[in-house]
Amino acid sequence: MNNFFRSELNGLRPYSPGKPISDVKRELGLEEVIKLASNESPYPPFSEAMEAVSRTQNEVNRYPDGGCVELKSKLVKFLGFPESNLMIGNGSNELLRLLAQICLNPGDEVVMACPSFVVYPTVTRMMGGVCREIPLINHRHDLKNMLSAVNEGTKIVFICNPNNPTGTIVSKEEIDVFMSEIPENVMVVFDEAYFEYVDDESYPNGLDYFDEKRPIVILRTFSKIYGLTGLRIGYGIAPKTIVSAVNKIREPFNVNHLAQVAAIASLDCVDKVAERKKLTLKQKRFLYEEFDKMGLSCLKSEANFILVDLKVDSKKVFNQLLQKGVIVRTGDIFGPGYENFIRVTIGMPEENKKFIRALREVLS
Ligand SMILES: Cc1ncc(COP(=O)(O)O)c(C=O)c1O
Repeated sequence: MNNFFRSELNGLRPYSPGKPISDVKRELGLEEVIKLASNESPYPPFSEAMEAVSRTQNEVNRYPDGGCVELKSKLVKFLGFPESNLMIGNGSNELLRLLAQICLNPGDEVVMACPSFVVYPTVTRMMGGVCREIPLINHRHDLKNMLSAVNEGTKIVFICNPNNPTGTIVSKEEIDVFMSEIPENVMVVFDEAYFEYVDDESYPNGLDYFDEKRPIVILRTFSKIYGLTGLRIGYGIAPKTIVSAVNKIREPFNVNHLAQVAAIASLDCVDKVAERKKLTLKQKRFLYEEFDKMGLSCLKSEANFILVDLKVDSKKVFNQLLQKGVIVRTGDIFGPGYENFIRVTIGMPEENKKFIRALREVLS
């Protein structure tokens, strides 16, 4: 099988997902396990979404609507953008890959922060692109250095706002400067997977930078606050030319039927989204206070997860937490300098209490 695979696959590693609850239960013989590892919503999908799924589940003998027509017309009203500027993906993850596939030729450069969402390097390298990873500064995107890294060979800049894994944001003021200086032919992707959780008033809305004449893309998802992670559905707003290019190469039925009906129903749940945001903020404050009492410092997060500095090797703590039925993420996966951090997703009140109890025991 020598030379069988495309050389771009060399050096790529499969995505490593958070440990599934069922594995931990089986391996450790535990009855109760909580997963605070993958930035999912701990809350179930909205009842409206579940009812829509129940009503339509017997229709899955048919292919889904390949054009996501009903969902797009709902999003037109929700976002105020025409249907021709909308693309729907099997999670925003798929859209990230499609964006790389429509424009990257071997050797093209892609600028991204480091650490940031792990999928950006993968979609870049798989196309033969070159990653220009710019270290975070104070755990935030260093937009000045990202701008300096842009050259004639740059095709895409990914801005993860809020950033995964740090939960930090870049402000409207900073993005305004960045957008005024970046060459107009470079694609800027605002990955706003955690948009609905942000509370900081300086946070920019990527949609404000939309320009039909420039390759600016805004990505959002139903996987986080809407709780439809397992159904896989996200969306993007982009100029028509980009949407058309994506439509040329995406799978004909890339978004399943149940995901579409659940997303349509979820878009009506504006008050429930606000309520969930409030609940998450309250739990975030609880966790901040508990970390503080333990003498641990953590990053101020605008998302539904927190990066905490344990000041000791997080792998050991991870394993000890696992024994107590709590799954988090170790920081080593985010690169050098993060070995002592864990990333914990904000769970339901009881889960957060269990996590804190377990962490206290492990660190004592
Ligand atoms: C920053 C960021 N972007 C995109 C995604 C992908 O989300 P999905 O494919 O579930 O829509 C995630 C998931 O964790 C994320 O953290």
